[in-house]
Amino acid sequence: MHKYNKGLLFGVLTLLATQSALAADCAPAQVQKGEALFGSDCSVCHSAKAGGPTMMGPNLHGLYGRKSGSLAGFSYSQAMKTKAVEWQMDSLEQFIAQPQGFVAGTYMPYVGMASGDDRRAVGCFLGAQK
Ligand code: HEC
Repeated sequence: MHKYNKGLLFGVLTLLATQSALAADCAPAQVQKGEALFGSDCSVCHSAKAGGPTMMGPNLHGLYGRKSGSLAGFSYSQAMKTKAVEWQMDSLEQFIAQPQGFVAGTYMPYVGMASGDDRRAVGCFLGAQK
């Protein structure tokens, strides 16, 4: 009985680990959805293409791993530079949920994206811009 319980526990833990690994993955459908959302909500101010133009906002190609406010040649707010957060899917999602809440004093005039699913999709899209 004791042995059986251990085996069961191991099975459950393995299942949980597999599921959270899947959740962190971006399905192609999420990337597609994110592309559409980026088009409607972000692309008026941002390009996500390699070598794309600086618009009202900085280029977002290769965003993950970059420190906030660090793209050479873009005139950031002091707030964005001081925040010095490393952009990853998590920090990006927090920022676009409520830009002024995450970086008080940011120049980014975007009110926020309400749906967590939508924010994840945008995060997936940006991560897929290789
Ligand atoms: C109306 C223009 C506008 C819109 C719309 C907009 N942004 Fe921005 N974004 C900016 C500006 C301006 C900055 C620079 C902010 C600062 O310096 O405080 C910025 C900064 C950022 C940064 C920080 C980049 C860096 O190099 O540190 C990220 C990430 C970002 N925006 C993502 C998004 C996403 C994703 C969307 C769509 C959900 C979006 N933005 C919508 C104008 C915009």
